Amino acid sequence: MKKILVTGGAGYIGSHTVVALIEAHYTPIIIDDFSNSRREVLEQIKELTGKEIVLHEGDVADANFLTNVFNNEKEISGVIHFAAHKAVGESVEKPLKYYRNNLNGLMSLLEVMEQQGVTPLVFSSSATVYGAPDSNPITENAQIKASESPYGSTKIIGEQIIKDLTKSGARVSAVTLRYFNPIGAHKSGKIGELPLGIPNNLLPYLTQVAAGKREKLTVYGNDYDTSDGTCIRDYLHVVDLANAHIAALEHLSKQEAPFYDTFNVGTGNGTTVLELIHLFEKVTGIKLNYEIGPKRKGDVPACYADVQKIKNILSWEAGLTLEDALRDAWRWEEELNKVTS
Ligand code: UFG
Repeated sequence: MKKILVTGGAGYIGSHTVVALIEAHYTPIIIDDFSNSRREVLEQIKELTGKEIVLHEGDVADANFLTNVFNNEKEISGVIHFAAHKAVGESVEKPLKYYRNNLNGLMSLLEVMEQQGVTPLVFSSSATVYGAPDSNPITENAQIKASESPYGSTKIIGEQIIKDLTKSGARVSAVTLRYFNPIGAHKSGKIGELPLGIPNNLLPYLTQVAAGKREKLTVYGNDYDTSDGTCIRDYLHVVDLANAHIAALEHLSKQEAPFYDTFNVGTGNGTTVLELIHLFEKVTGIKLNYEIGPKRKGDVPACYADVQKIKNILSWEAGLTLEDALRDAWRWEEELNKVTS
């Protein structure tokens, strides 16, 4: 069974991808420093899959640590790189923390992969690289826009670093996945997004309001040029997103290094904030306390994916519905409350 190194494998998308890897008969090897994740996740993955999970605790930016992991594990046949800081607002306050962590982590990883002759790499990027797109749905050829946040810049620069390395002739093959808005949780309710502090993203905030942990949800603006005035996003079930990484690995296994390509990962459907709120209410039967507030700085009015490329080349498409994602997000919130109450 092929060993795949998963940096940030205890995190939200990482943990779901570890489960997907096991289901696809790979052996995941996790690197995590638990700066934004918890150790218990590994127990939960074990309960879900029946497999003992191999963990190397440490920082991907530490090249010696990484070299030891590669030497100890031997025969690692690919890497999925999630480990990065991801809070957009915090990155504006602490730009150096983001540039240092996200870019040093990626560069150390690439250097060690090259030294060890390990390829391929799947890199975790974001639709944030498109900024405010000129039109929707967004294709992979859309213009990359200067980011409003250092977090977004680390994704743009990260993609460029990998592309430059493959252009230099280095024997690395890589795929960048540009995620739209991942939501939801594994249907078992055993793994999901961990609420550390006040959530920035819509879904975790919304489920905390539904659970009575927060008083009300503020909808950021209702005078955008959209059907109901609220922003449009492409919300994607995290389990579908996890499976896109398997499709990327399988595609890469058929390519000769050096190789580089980029894919959008979304559903192709745009949903407004109010539509999402009302669908959540319908699926769960819970009335949500919300109010319309001012716009949030940096929000783009609409952002949803053109998914033809990933369908055609990776034969991947989202199989779960928005209802599934909302139901699973709510089940996860309820599980969290059982633990903490
Ligand atoms: N929103 C609210 N109230 C909230 C939180 C969010 O109305 O309390 C709205 C936002 O205005 C936006 C939508 O819900 O219209 C989604 O907001 P999120 O913060 O959940 O997601 P974003 O689209 O802003 O950002 C996400 C990721 C980023 C990534 C980006 C790529 O958080 O990491 O998608 O498009 F860069």
